[in-house]
Amino acid sequence: MLSQYCKIRFIWRNILFILPVSVVMSYTVASGQVIPIETKNSAMVLTVDKGHLLHVSYFGKKLEDKNDYIQFKQQLQQAGDPSGVSNAPYSTAGSRNLFEPAISVIHADGNTSLALQYVSSSIKKVSDDIVETSVQLKDPVYDFKVTLIYRAYQTENVVEQWAEILQNEQGDVRLNKFASANLYWYGRDFWLKQYHGDWAREMQPEVTKLSHGIKTLDTKLGTRADLFQPPIFMVSNGKAPEEDQGEVMLGSIEWSGNYRIDLELDNQNNLRVIAGMNNFADAYELAPGKLFKTPRFLYTLSQKGTGKASRDLQAWARKYRILDGQGSRLTLLNNWETTNFNFNEEKLKAILGDTKKLGVDLFLLDDGWFGNKYPRNDDHAGLGDWQANKKKLPNGIQAVVKQADQMGVKFGIWIEPEMVNPKSELYENHPDWVIKQPNRPEYYFRNQLVLDLSNPKVQDFVFGIVDSLFIKNPTLAYIKWDCNAVIYNAYSAHLKNQSELYVEYVRGLYKVLERIRAKYPKVPMMLCSGGGGRVDYAALKYFTEFWPSDNTDPLERIYLQWEYSYFYPAIASANHVTNWGSQPIKYKVDVAMMGKLGFDIPVSKLKPEELTFCKDAVKQYDQLSDVIWHGDQYRLVSPWNHDFASIMYVNTDKSKAVMFSYLVSNRYDAGSELPVKLKGLDAHKHYKIEEVNLYKGAKSKIKLNKENSYSGSFLMEVGFNPVVNAGRSSVVLVLTATD
Ligand code: DGJ
Repeated sequence: MLSQYCKIRFIWRNILFILPVSVVMSYTVASGQVIPIETKNSAMVLTVDKGHLLHVSYFGKKLEDKNDYIQFKQQLQQAGDPSGVSNAPYSTAGSRNLFEPAISVIHADGNTSLALQYVSSSIKKVSDDIVETSVQLKDPVYDFKVTLIYRAYQTENVVEQWAEILQNEQGDVRLNKFASANLYWYGRDFWLKQYHGDWAREMQPEVTKLSHGIKTLDTKLGTRADLFQPPIFMVSNGKAPEEDQGEVMLGSIEWSGNYRIDLELDNQNNLRVIAGMNNFADAYELAPGKLFKTPRFLYTLSQKGTGKASRDLQAWARKYRILDGQGSRLTLLNNWETTNFNFNEEKLKAILGDTKKLGVDLFLLDDGWFGNKYPRNDDHAGLGDWQANKKKLPNGIQAVVKQADQMGVKFGIWIEPEMVNPKSELYENHPDWVIKQPNRPEYYFRNQLVLDLSNPKVQDFVFGIVDSLFIKNPTLAYIKWDCNAVIYNAYSAHLKNQSELYVEYVRGLYKVLERIRAKYPKVPMMLCSGGGGRVDYAALKYFTEFWPSDNTDPLERIYLQWEYSYFYPAIASANHVTNWGSQPIKYKVDVAMMGKLGFDIPVSKLKPEELTFCKDAVKQYDQLSDVIWHGDQYRLVSPWNHDFASIMYVNTDKSKAVMFSYLVSNRYDAGSELPVKLKGLDAHKHYKIEEVNLYKGAKSKIKLNKENSYSGSFLMEVGFNPVVNAGRSSVVLVLTATD
């Protein structure tokens, strides 16, 4: 068998090195053969057995010698697998599988069993960095096929995988479950880090050792789907997740609606991770010949802890996913926290002046600018009526945009286009566009209902909101897309099959976003959902940034941003300085600088020294943003178990770095007693250290040697003390290489 394997290995090697980009190579392998899904550092290895069944035979570090993959299983002495399919890469229901299935169907003839056998595979070199492997599976009895697709990003160590389901039976096949991915991980002791939350309390982490049975992470909220549980998680193998060591996988489902992730520890102590759209209330009737494509599941596997995993994921997200992820971002002044719904043209003109004074790029007009029959003066009315309110803005949005243009300030606007207040003309004119059960009383979330995006007419309407804003205001430079309600009483007047609503809603949303991006490819848009109620890697394809939380208290933000940073890069994190929290303005600005800086404060009420500080900080941010947005991030000191937190960013050639430190405890003498070991620097370079973001006239307290020159190796092995204490509760240090 080994010699046969060597042949295959030879083929694979050649395929990967010789194949020009975009060429597809198809082949059929015989039993005992091997399909490795590799990135630079990780591998998932599929093998085909004599009965044409496909197995996950290895999941872990990429091995130098591929022969070693098939030797791995010989070294296991685990309990037996009577079914012979428990390590299938796409477990079926109703036949031999004894565990949670990835797919469960009722065939056209009513049969409830599915078995999938290996047919063939192909690989496509999408680019020098991306290799896509497709594996075709088929039921030996029914004309039912599943293709598993693995897109492996070599340098970033990220794999996206999904399934494509196709049937040609005598009628519709009901898909009761239709996961995107089914991983199988050999081990004994696995730890899960998951998140829960609510409004203003997003991203609360919990770490638990997985016990036998199934742990399910899911949401059934429909829209604002991640409010209580975001679709991101990590699993470590062997010990609880650590920052710089140990094997850990970060995973997420790329879907903006209901998702379900099952983590099942089986009788052999191995872990299966099955992730996809949530099949709750969601059976799908698949017509013959119609392809059903699941969303993508993505993961990165690291043998060097969460630090390496998150840097890989962040690099992937910047390069391949987040809109303009390698570009730049606009600093801004938002009016929400300052005015709420209470503003008029005059007030906005004053805020435009403040925008200019602060030196940020853009003014963002928030909620409350629309609605006439039912003015949007609070959150009970007007949502859906996207005409400027004549009382507040007698000359329309155009007048404010014109004023902004004249002042050399960019203009952005808030919308919440998927929603409607019952008190609105939209609701009166199109009651059938609203998701609600016909026989039940309406029930509201923030006094509003969700529009039925499964309906193409509603899709046109939502697209039209954005389109007409751009048509009327060609210089419009930014959109904040909000989404504040969940789906209650799920029923669509448009759909024949109600159980498809949750899926079709999200597909409808993506159709709208596709159209927007086809016409307006570059305009920055913020993904907001009453805070972080919708942050995922499917939506971020259309958005340049997300709003992590309405909670902008900087102390809270240190924890929130810390946790988000495992999964999302700083360039996408919209961080605003507001009146939340009673910390000094410097603390607030320093925290907000660890991402995409914005302000939402009454600038006119700042003390002169505070205003000066903010203006200087905006200029400083312009100097540092390249490192923060595009550099590698290193979490140095965790706020969860220290008096202070430290995080740093290092640019690609390691010539510049910025380190942020914040006091998070107010206990006596709390602070940075010891030096902090830096990370990611070049051990052989020398760095000059400078403290920035100081109030005018304030002196830094950091202790520097005479030459102000430190080797990277000293800074990483011994460290540097940012001197954080009650008198210096936040400290920003810039490191510049001098050789
Ligand atoms: C929720 C958002 O998170 C806030 O920033 C603000 O835009 C309000 N909605 C407006 O209603």
